[in-house]
Amino acid sequence: MSNNAAPGLDYFRWFYDDGVWKRMHYRGVRILKFPSDLWNYREIFSERRVDWVIETGTRHGGSALYFADLLQLNGASGRVISIDVDAVASQVRSHPRIDFLLGDSGAPETAEQVRARIPPTRGTLFMILDADHRKAHVLRELAAWVPLLRRGDYLIVEDSCVTAIRYGRTSAPVLTKRSRSIAPPTRRRSSAIWRASRNSVSPSRREAT
Ligand SMILES: C[S@@+](CC[C@H](N)C(=O)[O-])C[C@H]1O[C@@H](n2cnc3c(N)ncnc32)[C@H](O)[C@@H]1O
Repeated sequence: MSNNAAPGLDYFRWFYDDGVWKRMHYRGVRILKFPSDLWNYREIFSERRVDWVIETGTRHGGSALYFADLLQLNGASGRVISIDVDAVASQVRSHPRIDFLLGDSGAPETAEQVRARIPPTRGTLFMILDADHRKAHVLRELAAWVPLLRRGDYLIVEDSCVTAIRYGRTSAPVLTKRSRSIAPPTRRRSSAIWRASRNSVSPSRREAT
């Protein structure tokens, strides 16, 4: 890593190691996100005209609220579907653009329920995996959700930064439908972002620049 990257990495470490990430709010609701990721997501929503969002891992609901606001601002017709195994921490009881779903985000039945709620005529889908970050669960999620994705959709695997901070490398797996192989992403970032093509999920060109 060049010296130019060091201040950014220091900020990144401070944000996580000092627990700043636990004190973040969006419109008064707790949100567990790195601020520049939110900016990137906002850009993706407007550039790609994102229409629907599937989020695994609701927690307090701040990120679901943020995504719902982006859909609203961009005049999208779709909704946010946010999934969690429990609702104990939720600070958003209901919202006209959010469907909160209780269930295991790695279960094919959950993905099937969600598929049934989204019209086949949908536009771009933004899928964000932010539930249990352990490898086994992320692999279950990828197996369950990747079949719902189409060319031009986005798949975000959150918190691949944690291993980067602790061990200097990223941990998020890349699963291609064709090979079912796992390979590490190429760059440090707080989340791994992939664009979906017809047969595979691959690193986003936007992120690779
Ligand atoms: C990192 S938090 C989500 C943070 C939220 N997306 C945000 O940015 O504010 C992870 C959430 O995933 C949920 N979770 C853990 N395992 C899960 C599973 N198997 N299925 C669905 N949700 C799960 C936890 O209950 C927790 O609320």
